[in-house]
Amino acid sequence: MPSNSILETVWKTVLDASNIVYNAVHKTPLVHNVFMSKLTGNNVYLKLENLQVTGSFKARGAYYKIHKCLNEARSKGVISASSGNHAQGVAYAASILGVQATIVMPETTPPFKVNSTKSYGAKVVLYGTVYDDAYRKALELTSETGGVFIHPFNDIDVIAGQGTIGLEIMEQLSKAEIVVIPIGGGGLISGIGTALKKLNPSIKVIGVEPSNAAKYFASRKTGKLVTIQPRASIADGVIAKSTGDLTYQIMNEVVDDVITVDEESIARAIYILMERAKIVAEGAGALPMAALLEGNLINQGRNVVLVISGGNIDLATLYKILIKGLAYDSRIVNIKVVLRDVHGELLKVLNVLYKYKCNIVDIRHDRFNLKVPVGHALVEIIIEIPDVDVIDKIRKELSELDVIIWS
Ligand SMILES: Cc1ncc(COP(=O)(O)O)c(C=O)c1O
Repeated sequence: MPSNSILETVWKTVLDASNIVYNAVHKTPLVHNVFMSKLTGNNVYLKLENLQVTGSFKARGAYYKIHKCLNEARSKGVISASSGNHAQGVAYAASILGVQATIVMPETTPPFKVNSTKSYGAKVVLYGTVYDDAYRKALELTSETGGVFIHPFNDIDVIAGQGTIGLEIMEQLSKAEIVVIPIGGGGLISGIGTALKKLNPSIKVIGVEPSNAAKYFASRKTGKLVTIQPRASIADGVIAKSTGDLTYQIMNEVVDDVITVDEESIARAIYILMERAKIVAEGAGALPMAALLEGNLINQGRNVVLVISGGNIDLATLYKILIKGLAYDSRIVNIKVVLRDVHGELLKVLNVLYKYKCNIVDIRHDRFNLKVPVGHALVEIIIEIPDVDVIDKIRKELSELDVIIWS
């Protein structure tokens, strides 16, 4: 552990937070994952913050921060800006402590997020189009009302609250050797990293960012805190222009390496967590898994912990990711045939699919395609197949029928 006074302060604050946060949050499970262990040649464990109250780790820091300034918070309320998990964490923590919370959210925030924040009793102010607008408005409200501003990451108490995850990991797996953690503004990894390094200085702390929003990666490379223009990412919880100045300083002490991952790997990680571990993770929460799937840390035989930091993914996005994942695994296949547009032709095709126990997911006719001969129809059939071997057999049998197969 570097003898740095900020780290000492964070560490003491983490210990204090560990006496407070469990009034409101769970100690989340740490589970061994056989599939990822075999795939990567390590012992892989998942720290399940998706099972935390409000569906992410955020209530830890928010609760500790509000608890620490409780008198002021009760008399003036708390204010924050967020379009995601922090909003729900603050709203939940405030409701437990009998404090009025006001959350400023961009007008573009999906209604389900607005509603879930309101469901904890918070007042929601919709303002501006992006997070920065909402943030400025929240600061304005703070100076007007004298309320307590709860920063999502650049605050020692918030960082310390998140750091209680590090204490839990060491309690649950004292032989942990590598811990992989998503980076947004850097509060989560600063807290966990400080606790881990204090308890075991040789532990490796690895951060993960989407390449579309690799702000800490860019700062680390440049050697100073930089601002980037992030692009959209499935990991929407970690999109920011830069990390905080405080978190930047702490991360430089406690983070051993930073990995960036692409959008395909994040989607694949969400799919594999669902398929193999029955875990629902949002994009940000799946970043550590994506880092492993991209081939990092292979065959090291180490005890690796992936912090699955949240599970708040909307079902429409999850659906698209699952369908794409099934197609990638060739378990959902798209077949296109051109049939004579007369009675009984489609049935011939369906009989072949029936024979190979395929389930029809969707079926569409296209009679307006100019490449299709007159009197014919292009039929696109999406099927779920029992195993990959049947595809060739189906193609062969269809080619023996009087139909044209389009690839
Ligand atoms: C699910 C999830 N994971 C990770 C993060 C990153 O946390 P931090 O901003 O403290 O780095 C966030 C931030 O909101 C998040 O919502």
